[in-house]
Amino acid sequence: MEAYLIDGGRPLDGVMEIHGAKNSVLPIMAACVCCAGTCEIRNCPRISDVETAVAILRHLGCRVERRGGTLAVDAAGLARCDIPAKLMRDMRSSILFLGALLARCGRADLVLPGGCALGARPVDLHLQAMGRLGARAEQAGDRITCRAGALRGQEFTLRFPSVGATENAMLAALGCRGTVVLRNAAREPEIVDLAQFLRVLGAQVSGEGTDRLTVQGGAPLHGAAYTVMPDRIETATYLCAAAGCGGDVFLAGAERRSLEAVISVLGRSGCQITEEASGLRIQASGRLTPPGSVATAPHPGFPTDAQAPVMAAMLRAAGTTGFTETIFENRMRHVPQLRRLGADITLYGRRAVVRGVGTLRGADMEATDLRCGAALIVAALQAEGESRVTGVPYIRRGYEALAENLRNAGAAVTLQNE
Ligand code: EPZ
Repeated sequence: MEAYLIDGGRPLDGVMEIHGAKNSVLPIMAACVCCAGTCEIRNCPRISDVETAVAILRHLGCRVERRGGTLAVDAAGLARCDIPAKLMRDMRSSILFLGALLARCGRADLVLPGGCALGARPVDLHLQAMGRLGARAEQAGDRITCRAGALRGQEFTLRFPSVGATENAMLAALGCRGTVVLRNAAREPEIVDLAQFLRVLGAQVSGEGTDRLTVQGGAPLHGAAYTVMPDRIETATYLCAAAGCGGDVFLAGAERRSLEAVISVLGRSGCQITEEASGLRIQASGRLTPPGSVATAPHPGFPTDAQAPVMAAMLRAAGTTGFTETIFENRMRHVPQLRRLGADITLYGRRAVVRGVGTLRGADMEATDLRCGAALIVAALQAEGESRVTGVPYIRRGYEALAENLRNAGAAVTLQNE
């Protein structure tokens, strides 16, 4: 079994590279299906979820070619509208091909998607959105069958600002006759990136980043080139590693604008985070100051994906930090693993109280989802002695060249294929 071996307890110092955003490139890859042309997706990260999306695109009949950091997707040859269970179950964002296939060919035959076990993760909001646009969307067991007669423009409100349901509605709206207005839309930066990509394809989209998103359906779409935004959660993860270990780290390619909530918390804990010409620099030393309680919320609130890494950064702070997870019902699975290092964490359902300890000691831990794995790495880097983190496939879903990146900042991390 593969494992990250980490000899922790030292400050980080050096340059780390931030890659294209996983949660932006995946909906953008699905959106390529909507246009019978060739799209060039630049700054495309080398992560396993992208490999899964490539396999889905090729299954559908698209030609996909990687040229360095760019992925060329030619969807002219799209020949089918079904996706096999094996590919659907490898990740959550396979569900985004629902809206894209409806827009392109008026039908989609899928099964429920996979993804990190953070709770029930239903797709009711996705199916309701397809229904509001005029499609007949049915779920029987784990099978999803969707038929669009004539998708029509509509104004409707999401019960919850679901990121995926917002993205699916945007993609299906491309095939509608008339105007689609989505209220209570998600406002995440990845939604903004998708909207900008759709506009370069020729779509008429406005309101992204607000809770009222408008798409004029039926615009003719053409191939285009687009550069994916930097991954804000990868950035948050490495900021947390430097915060917890202390040191001086430059994150090349990182942007401040999509991470204000996380930077505010780390700033309150005593880290100096400055924006430079082509990235972010973080400087930290000594024990962190507890930043006050942290509660996750839809953007622009504190991102749920950063909850576990920030908790790991606060394990040795000089006091108590409270974390409340409001988005997913089962996103505290990193807590029992972090306790193996000697962390003092008390769980009350979706709320965790972290009491800073002076020392963490290396231990064996197992990642149970992507950001849990990130948190275990952040914590192990602070621990005296060697830690072993398994569950590497989870981490590979969202972090390109993690061990190499951390080694460039002076960390003793190796990936062992046992
Ligand atoms: C996206 O997941 C991200 N994944 C997640 O990142 C992220 O945590 C999440 O948004 C919230 O920001 C990708 O973009 C690929 P949601 P998504 O729909 O779209 C409930 C990571 O680590 N819900 O906004 O699945 C749902 O159960 C991953 O990179 C319904 O009830 O998130 C959850 O409680 C993890 N019905 C809440 O809404 C639905 O139909 C938020 O889910 C859909 C969602």
